[in-house]
Amino acid sequence: MTIVDLGAAPGGWIQAADQVLGGRGTIVGVDLLPLHTSIPQNEASIRFVQGDFTTPAVQNKVKQILRDSTGRGEVDLVVSDMMGNVTGNMLRDGTISLELCETALSFALAHLAPSTTADPTSKTAHPVQFVVKHFTSAATSDLRKRLASLFHVVKWVKPHSSRKASREGFFVCAGLRPGNPKPAASSSGPDARPSTESGDLFF
Ligand SMILES: C[S@@+](CC[C@H](N)C(=O)[O-])C[C@H]1O[C@@H](n2cnc3c(N)ncnc32)[C@H](O)[C@@H]1O
Repeated sequence: MTIVDLGAAPGGWIQAADQVLGGRGTIVGVDLLPLHTSIPQNEASIRFVQGDFTTPAVQNKVKQILRDSTGRGEVDLVVSDMMGNVTGNMLRDGTISLELCETALSFALAHLAPSTTADPTSKTAHPVQFVVKHFTSAATSDLRKRLASLFHVVKWVKPHSSRKASREGFFVCAGLRPGNPKPAASSSGPDARPSTESGDLFF
């Protein structure tokens, strides 16, 4: 299994993913900041690129690692915990977060393999392929609709560890639809539906 972990520092998610994979896979982490020194980052199973993921130079480094390590450049799961410094200005924070979400989504769409399930119309047993943190804003509803047009299952999750007052949440997306579906019509106002925390890799 190949996982790309965007906004990976200091490395909590990498450690968790490494435990699940048990060395039988590749995790490529990216962050502006370095990983904690306790995390090995040049083993075959954990690779790390320090830099701004919104830049082509950093994305090209990730693509090269994927080609070298998997031979096919495809990814099974993209997770993005990227978040800029929260300024308190909701419009600005929402805009920055949305740009990071869109960057992660573009990368995911270019590198995820369409999900293969026995019954592609089924709402169950789709592998989770994209997880993205976002700062709730007026654009959240549009993002959710766009994700729903691209994936068979989209759940909104607020982890127990996330402060209630915080405006952050996660979209967990399973089962990339084949082809190039058109984004759903947009609407205003957030209407993401909360879900309970889930550690499942399948929906
Ligand atoms: C909440 S922290 C991530 C925590 C991490 N998932 C873990 O398990 O330890 C958010 C991270 O996003 C990173 N980040 C924000 N913008 C970024 C960008 N443009 N490119 C890469 N990383 C970015 C920040 O440097 C920060 O370390």
